[in-house]
Amino acid sequence: MPSSASLKWQIALGLGAVGAAIDTIPEEFKTDLATYYQNRAAAYEQLKKWSSVITDCTKAIELNNRYEKALYRRAKAEEMTKDWVNALDDVTSVCLLQNFGNQSALLMADRVLKELGKKNAAEAIKNRKPVIPSKNFIKTYFSSFSEDPVYKKLRETTEPLGLGELKGFLKAKLAFATEKYEEVIPACTEELNLSESESSYKIEAFSLRASFYFLTGQFKEALEDLTAIIEKEDADLLTKVNALIKDLQYICRLKSCQNASTISIVLMELGPNISDVFHHRCQVKLLMEKTEEARSDFKKAVELNPNFSVAVVQKCYSDYRHAMASQDVTLLMQSMHDFRKAIDRFPNCPETYILFKQVKTERQEFQEAEELYQQVMKIDPNNASIFVHRGLLLLQWKGEIEKAVELMKEGIKIDDKSEFAYETLGTVEVQRGNLLLAIELFNKAIALARSEMEMVHLFSLRDAAASQLKIASKLGVGPHLLKGVS
Ligand SMILES: *[C@@H]1O[C@H](CO)[C@@H](O)[C@H](O)[C@H]1NC(C)=O
Ligand SMILES: *[C@@H]1O[C@H](CO)[C@@H](O)[C@H](O)[C@H]1NC(C)=O
Ligand SMILES: *[C@@H]1O[C@H](CO)[C@@H](O)[C@H](O)[C@H]1NC(C)=O
Ligand SMILES: *[C@@H]1O[C@H](CO)[C@@H](O)[C@H](O)[C@H]1NC(C)=O
Ligand SMILES: *[C@@H]1O[C@H](CO)[C@@H](O)[C@H](O)[C@H]1NC(C)=O
Ligand SMILES: *[C@@H]1O[C@H](CO)[C@@H](O)[C@H](O)[C@H]1NC(C)=O
Repeated sequence: MPSSASLKWQIALGLGAVGAAIDTIPEEFKTDLATYYQNRAAAYEQLKKWSSVITDCTKAIELNNRYEKALYRRAKAEEMTKDWVNALDDVTSVCLLQNFGNQSALLMADRVLKELGKKNAAEAIKNRKPVIPSKNFIKTYFSSFSEDPVYKKLRETTEPLGLGELKGFLKAKLAFATEKYEEVIPACTEELNLSESESSYKIEAFSLRASFYFLTGQFKEALEDLTAIIEKEDADLLTKVNALIKDLQYICRLKSCQNASTISIVLMELGPNISDVFHHRCQVKLLMEKTEEARSDFKKAVELNPNFSVAVVQKCYSDYRHAMASQDVTLLMQSMHDFRKAIDRFPNCPETYILFKQVKTERQEFQEAEELYQQVMKIDPNNASIFVHRGLLLLQWKGEIEKAVELMKEGIKIDDKSEFAYETLGTVEVQRGNLLLAIELFNKAIALARSEMEMVHLFSLRDAAASQLKIASKLGVGPHLLKGVS
């Protein structure tokens, strides 16, 4: 409640006009006056008069820039009027002043960051330039389709490529083999521009172009090419099945897995004996967190193709998850045994080590996890994610932040297109209070992001850091006091 002296002061100034005279108000009345405006803003809030709430809170904050209640109320009004940028700054102020201890403010910060992220991502996606991912990423992607006839054709090196200058799909094939990936899409387009009688590789060109559209984040174009394959009468069953598998995968990324369920049914009718179908369907089920259904699909994929290494280790992993959930000790022992056997059988498959070390980390068997990292780094030395994960392990295990940062930087050196490395290092830098550096790293990750969903997430990280940086200096709160939001 304002004291009677300050009430007299308010009356004297004629209330509404106070803002202009702030400097002339004696210190002892400022607090009372700020309270007065804050309370009036609360009344406006009841009436849902958001612009009046904002005006009164602003007056209160001008009188006391650390007035948490007024900052919080203004943030709420700004959220109601979808003024995300200001809402973020105000809620960040509250978070900083309360040292990130106010649950409702943290939740609001998350909400506002998501909305701001959506807005920023929608704009960024319009101006986005397709980026070809790293060579390692592309290779991993293609190796996850063990039975795709087009990919088999791409790997064949026996077929003579012919003399003279190559055109169309054959040119794309050469570009693929020599890792000149930026030439793949134009060469496929060249094939597809040929008339029916001139072209013998239309299906192959559609399939390869679809994959590169997907890899470069051009999902709509990718889906169109897949549809062309599915509708083609002369495409064989396996080719169609593979097109449908990709359809499933892409729709999951572009929209949601719910939208892919009918494709999943068609696939089961067409390809009940094809290992890849099960393997990729389980990835979708994992995304939808249907772990039990995924487990039975992995089992089926392994039955159909016992030499499909990635499916074999994913089965081990899903067995492990099931054993943990159901507290089945026998299955737990079995899955550990199967993991070791898988490492013996597929000593060159990175996935085996990666999933096994994930299990080891989870079980806090850090020493063994570290040994697995050292092994996988030898067989997959160009995988930046592995460096990053190893850094995270050291952080979790020994709190060695300098060493972790060093590993992550090494990861970026190996693959300067690793979105995951930039994002993770950025998050670590936020924790260390290096906000400017973190923002720079998040921006690099944003430039590499392929889907809108990824972008929303990355923009949220960046905007949180940017707002903290701005508010910390405004309020005079040192970066050493900063902690990460969310
Ligand atoms: C969060 O902060 C605001 C503003 O100070 C306050 O009104 C609210 O009660 C706080 N909520 C919690 C859960 O601490
Ligand atoms: C690298 O390792 C990660 C796991 O750390 C794995 O998911 C991925 O498939 C590997 N390959 C590439 C190219 O990232
Ligand atoms: C394919 O045809 C389209 C339109 O007919 C043309 O714009 C494009 O340049 C052609 N692309 C190639 C690679 O031949
Ligand atoms: C995708 O799924 C959502 C939720 O099930 C539905 O509302 C939406 O209409 C679907 N969109 C398409 C294009 O199928
Ligand atoms: C799948 O395999 C089983 C057994 O090998 C066979 O009887 C069945 O006809 C096959 N189904 C299809 C659709 O190929
Ligand atoms: C799996 O690999 C082994 C050894 O390389 C081979 O003998 C066997 O025929 C393969 N099985 C299948 C189903 O391809």
